[in-house]
Amino acid sequence: MRQHPGARAAEFQQIVERANLSAGMHVADVPAGGGYLRAYLPGHVVWSGHEPCTSFQAEVCASTPLAHQQLLPLPWHDHSIDVVISLAGVHHIEDKRALFSECLRVTKPGGMLALSDVAAHSDVASFLDQFVDAHNSTGHRGTYLDQRTLDELEEAGWTVDTHESVHYHWCFDDHVSMADFCRKLFDLRNTSDVTIQKAIEKRLGVDKLPSGRLGMRWSLMTITARKQGEH
Ligand SMILES: C[S@@+](CC[C@H](N)C(=O)[O-])C[C@H]1O[C@@H](n2cnc3c(N)ncnc32)[C@H](O)[C@@H]1O
Repeated sequence: MRQHPGARAAEFQQIVERANLSAGMHVADVPAGGGYLRAYLPGHVVWSGHEPCTSFQAEVCASTPLAHQQLLPLPWHDHSIDVVISLAGVHHIEDKRALFSECLRVTKPGGMLALSDVAAHSDVASFLDQFVDAHNSTGHRGTYLDQRTLDELEEAGWTVDTHESVHYHWCFDDHVSMADFCRKLFDLRNTSDVTIQKAIEKRLGVDKLPSGRLGMRWSLMTITARKQGEH
């Protein structure tokens, strides 16, 4: 992410656009990874990130100790957050209900959850669970978003406002940068750049963009949900 800044810009922008943010709002980002979402927030929004993986924690907050930190409970007070944003993380959690309940607890009445992750049975899900699974040191099996996710959000007390498949590109200067980014992001081993490029072209698709750059097709399901009450 540091070597190819902006590669996932459209991914961050699509969730920020749907989060209806305005100045003074407190945004909770979970799991925050390296805290890269922060750069895409409008001005005067207060950002707090929470990240369970120790390898990311130093980037999220310099003062965070590198001790193991659980995902739950979330580290925010009841009714203290305007919008919870969760991008590309929950497919690692098989049972998401406790997270959805915790997000509701920390959100103010009338506040929002913007959740974006890989859709079940999508090309991206197959790419991750087949190609990445075969070449990554630990494998890859996700529990992706589907109707059950919407039902579990409602059961946790959220009102689902919108859900849609959002299609965009991860952007690179050329094929070499695209393969390098995917190799490092997904920890791909024992496979050549050409094999990575071919897998992306065959399974996801690649487009030449009007800017002259290379666009690797990617998509996520983005859900917005609201907590009952007056904001
Ligand atoms: C692709 S990163 C997304 C991070 C950030 N939201 C972003 O978009 O850059 C994947 C996230 O999944 C989380 N994760 C990985 N394995 C997990 C697990 N077993 N349980 C819960 N979260 C996990 C990591 O903490 C990491 O933040």
